[in-house]
Amino acid sequence: MRNSKIPKLTIVGAGPGDAELITLKAIKALENADVVLYDALVNEELLQYAVKAEIVFVGKRLGCHAYTQDQINELIVSMANRFGHVVRLKGGDPFVFGRGSEEIEYVEKFGVETAVVPGISSALGVPASVGISLTQRQVAESFWVITGTTSNHELSKDVYLASKSAATVVILMGMHKLEEIISIYKENRTDDLPIAIIQNGTKNTEQKVVGTIRSITKLVAENKISSPAIIVIGEVVKNTSKLTSYFQEHFEDEFIFQNLNLE
Ligand SMILES: C[S@@+](CC[C@H](N)C(=O)[O-])C[C@H]1O[C@@H](n2cnc3c(N)ncnc32)[C@H](O)[C@@H]1O
Repeated sequence: MRNSKIPKLTIVGAGPGDAELITLKAIKALENADVVLYDALVNEELLQYAVKAEIVFVGKRLGCHAYTQDQINELIVSMANRFGHVVRLKGGDPFVFGRGSEEIEYVEKFGVETAVVPGISSALGVPASVGISLTQRQVAESFWVITGTTSNHELSKDVYLASKSAATVVILMGMHKLEEIISIYKENRTDDLPIAIIQNGTKNTEQKVVGTIRSITKLVAENKISSPAIIVIGEVVKNTSKLTSYFQEHFEDEFIFQNLNLE
């Protein structure tokens, strides 16, 4: 029997990890979904809201993509035509390095109706959850959000530009390029610049290290920090009460604590 529902795609941001950091509008979209296609960074607890939907994992696990982007695009169109309302659930915000706009562009060519539900991006939500204020009066007037790895698998050139400014810099997908990032900062700025790296931010598996441009590579290796993680660089990192206590707890007798002149 042919589906009588109007084919529709809603691209939904699931937030940075903690299931409670999704929006009410996103939950309503999940409740209303006939199909949910979700990515690897999505907290699977959220799938409980998709009470009547067919649920398909389309993300990347152990380095392997379950589906290519072209296959996902085609799947959205065929599922929407067959079942009606497809929710594409993505980590963070779907328009921050999330390919949400590409999926919309593709399906609209096939007459599929579209809507977007924004989410809290890890770029904003993860620093905030550990107490880092990306802007701060007298300290940082702006912030950059940059990808560490472009579609050519290279470090974004914007990291060079950003490292010359006093802005706070937030780098996503940058862990494989950490050494390159550090050497750019060593060239353009001071070794004492604070930096925080947070893996699995807002989840119960969260891990973080805080140091300086000089100390961070060692701290990352010692604490076995890896992807998915965000890198936050700038003076704002040291002005965070939560991280100050983190410094005291973990590194009291270490050089990074002295470098930052924390009281
Ligand atoms: C493909 S991007 C997607 C970003 C997503 N659209 C957003 O707005 O957060 C994936 C990268 O986001 C960052 N990321 C996403 N969730 C994270 C989390 N909970 N903790 C730390 N980094 C996270 C990591 O840098 C990861 O490699």
